[in-house]
Amino acid sequence: MVDSHFAPNCPYHQGGDERKSACPPEAAPGTIVVEKLGLARQILRSDRVKQAGFRAELLERFGRREHAPVLYQGGEAHQKQRRAIARFFAPKIVSGHYRALMERLSDRLIERLRKTRRAQLDLMSLDIAVAVAAEIVGLTESSLPRMARRLNRFFTANAQVQTPRAVLTAFVLAQWRLLQFYLWDVRPAIGARRRRPREDVISHLIARGRSHREILTECLTYGAAGMVTTREFIVMAAWHLFERDALTARFLADGETERIAILEEILRLEPVVGALYRRAEHDLALEDAGETIHIPAGSLLALDVRHANADSAAGEYPHQLDPDRMRSQLHLSGSLISFGDGPHRCPGASVALQEAAIFLERLFRVPGIKLETAPALAWNPTIAGYELRGAIVTAG
Ligand code: HEM
Repeated sequence: MVDSHFAPNCPYHQGGDERKSACPPEAAPGTIVVEKLGLARQILRSDRVKQAGFRAELLERFGRREHAPVLYQGGEAHQKQRRAIARFFAPKIVSGHYRALMERLSDRLIERLRKTRRAQLDLMSLDIAVAVAAEIVGLTESSLPRMARRLNRFFTANAQVQTPRAVLTAFVLAQWRLLQFYLWDVRPAIGARRRRPREDVISHLIARGRSHREILTECLTYGAAGMVTTREFIVMAAWHLFERDALTARFLADGETERIAILEEILRLEPVVGALYRRAEHDLALEDAGETIHIPAGSLLALDVRHANADSAAGEYPHQLDPDRMRSQLHLSGSLISFGDGPHRCPGASVALQEAAIFLERLFRVPGIKLETAPALAWNPTIAGYELRGAIVTAG
């Protein structure tokens, strides 16, 4: 289907290609673009590269790497931090504590939709994604809807701006919004946890002696890595399901394992984070079809998640949505590298998938549910990620 939101000359949106996010912005000049799944996985698993995405190299100039948020750390400090936060993402905790929260929140949002019969889907998905991640992080001392709006405005303020004046205005605005997020959300959460520590990321960071500024940066990382991603993915998954009655019937009829397999296939096809960046700290020797590829130290590597996920490992017609395709590839995750791979692989993957499954099941059970207005698609160039806005759903 050709959609007016896409670039007019996009070669992909013609026949056979079911992706809605097929034409992302190109990688920055000077990067080595890696498109093959096997190569991308070797790089993500290598201990000879460091994080270079999410403005990591800018952040490095301003702080100590070992006190940076988990996404930006490397080596032993990173492993230690991952081991420490693993307990917040353990399957028992996710299925016990967070699952009940996801169900409660979804019920509340769907109840409201049934009453008003009309809602903006990307605002519903923002509310649920923010609430779940906030619980894991420990941002629970302020109003959730207000925090969701604050974070939404903060991340929107960082969107594409071109002229120097616009860059300056956006910078000042972003600093102002950051201050508001700190004063309203982060500082009260730190205060409450100093008095009574809990089982969450902020309590853990306080115990490690991290400063307010470091905790604020970690909260923002979770805001981008956990909230923004899940929010976009829920809308993308709903958009595909609204267009496929048979798939939606299957989504509702089957159990949660099947629902998650469908969601993973949608995420394989439509990765929210379309580009992962790494800087080679040492020379690399990568294996590809019996050949060795040498990458010199210092190279900036852009891993193209969309291309890698359409590799031959995905089977025939990789640009089509087919939830059964990965069944024979039991050693690979259904979403391939949409949650990354190696030491930085997303710790929140099962949280995001469960959350999406729970919310979307309830949404599609609403009698007469329809997508009245499809979302408009824009791009976040930092991660080659899509942003879906203005999706309106109506109930019968
Ligand atoms: C559909 C939703 C999500 C997607 C597509 C996603 C994707 C990713 C990807 C690709 C990475 C790896 C980045 C890299 O290697 O450079 C990552 C890391 C991370 N994600 Fe997620 N994520 C999602 C949801 C979540 C949630 C719900 C949370 C937590 C509440 C979360 C927390 C994190 C954290 C803390 C990291 C950094 C891990 C590290 O560097 O060791 N993510 N995510």
